Amino acid sequence: MKKIVFATNNAHKLQELRQMLGDRYDILALADIGCHEDIPETGNFIEENAQMKARYVKQHYGYDCFSDDTGLEIDALGGEPGVYSARYAGPGHDSEANIDKVLKKLDGIDNRTARFRTAIALLQGDEMHMFEGQVEGVILTERHGTGGFGYDSIFQPVEGDGSTFAQMSPQDKNSISHRGRAVALLVKFLNSQS
Ligand code: IMP
Repeated sequence: MKKIVFATNNAHKLQELRQMLGDRYDILALADIGCHEDIPETGNFIEENAQMKARYVKQHYGYDCFSDDTGLEIDALGGEPGVYSARYAGPGHDSEANIDKVLKKLDGIDNRTARFRTAIALLQGDEMHMFEGQVEGVILTERHGTGGFGYDSIFQPVEGDGSTFAQMSPQDKNSISHRGRAVALLVKFLNSQS
């Protein structure tokens, strides 16, 4: 079976990809290849960060690799937090603090439109392939729901019944989400290769 690295140690993301590609690819996590250091993610765009991580794995460990990076883009904030979504309120990667910061910045602002965007970079040999998924929605004025992670409790997708991502089942969220869409394109591409 072909080996490919997914540049993550997120168990949930790994399980998802293994379910979709497990019969054709042996999907290795960063820990599986002995990569325990923080891979630099210093790009100004999610696409750059995804590519950076994939190149790092290829250069240092020799494996073909894919990597994802996601950002929440809020129109009234000029696209913030964007590439800084994980650390919007500081280096602690604190989701609750990130949400508080967004709600404070949008206080009194009527335009609440936003989107999640995921970029996936796949490096095979020296060829880089990019896949993107996005989902449009609005930022609510307070949290709704307890599922999911990150900004899920304040993001209401346009498609759907008015629930936030945090009020949806993982299956329903995946079927319309930024990452679900980007992953579907990646899987289609990998499955089309002989
Ligand atoms: P990552 O690139 O998947 O690590 O995502 C970067 C940051 O974007 C995360 O730390 C979250 O704050 C946010 N994020 C990514 N995907 C989602 C999602 O599906 N729901 C809510 N927040 C997300």
